[in-house]
Amino acid sequence: MNSENINGFKALVRELTEVYGPTGRETKAAALLKKHIAPYVDEIRTDALGNLICVKRGSSGKRIMLSAHMDQIGLIVLDIDEKGFLRFAPVGGIDPEVTVCREVVFENGVRGVTYYEEEKVKDKPKLTQMFIDIGCKTREEAEAHVSIGDICTYAPHFIDMGSRIACGALDDRICCAILVEVMKRIDSPHDVYAVFTSQEEVGLRGGAAAAYSVDPDFGINLDVTASADTPECEKMPMAMGMGPTIKYMDRSAVITKPVIDFMHKVADERGIKVQNEILRYGGTDAGAVQPMRGGKAACCVSIATRYIHSPVELADIGDCLAAIDFVAAMAEEKELPIG
Ligand code: CO
Ligand code: ZN
Repeated sequence: MNSENINGFKALVRELTEVYGPTGRETKAAALLKKHIAPYVDEIRTDALGNLICVKRGSSGKRIMLSAHMDQIGLIVLDIDEKGFLRFAPVGGIDPEVTVCREVVFENGVRGVTYYEEEKVKDKPKLTQMFIDIGCKTREEAEAHVSIGDICTYAPHFIDMGSRIACGALDDRICCAILVEVMKRIDSPHDVYAVFTSQEEVGLRGGAAAAYSVDPDFGINLDVTASADTPECEKMPMAMGMGPTIKYMDRSAVITKPVIDFMHKVADERGIKVQNEILRYGGTDAGAVQPMRGGKAACCVSIATRYIHSPVELADIGDCLAAIDFVAAMAEEKELPIG
């Protein structure tokens, strides 16, 4: 990819990270993705759980499901007190330590900031000791802007560092962008489904529903993974800038040997630099595809990303561009690792 394409990719990631779309509230993210992908696919549909399912038809009679989740983590309002402070519960894996002193934004554009009960907190504040302040003086005033059940996200702030970028919601909008780029260029003998899944952050729920309805012969999921290259961090084999990963295992899936061998073979043949991934924690939609119906061949390609589930997730553009090549190459292979 030339620098024009790199800038185009960054612009797409930026646009996708700036759209509102916490778990269960993915409509706006889906509409934006639909706009970007429509020229490159034959059919588009959504399902009742919020998945966006796009198909580019082939002739082999086999189906490949590419997937990346649209939803991002959020905070759901569960109480508004008489002074207008909002209490919240996490939607997905919210880390209390990165949730204090944040700017947050609701679907209707209302902005707030987070803080905590200073008197009560000895060490680190828990989520139950935090609140959102939207600048209102009373409950009635706050209720004119926000209702119980509304979900906000960390306010997006995109930072272009050159070959790397930082922003909230790179998990997993950066892979949504990769999937759009894959669909632009792919020429596969198979029916290729690009599925932008809902509700991944609360347990791979949209991915499971989509895997059931698409009923793929092979699933290729894209997500972010930890990058174990920061000071004093837990040992894992992944690092930024070392290429897209071949996931071996996380808490949701152990990738089967024929699938792992297929991935390495494709990477070798195409000269794509990849790295191995063993994630000690967490899961991805590959774990929802694998056990579906009679059992599915499925894999996951990840982007090693620092500070996941924070507003400053940081990833490497080179890894993303190589992931586009890698996923497209796998989905164009005539012989799939099935059976
Ligand atoms: Co996540
Ligand atoms: Zn994710």
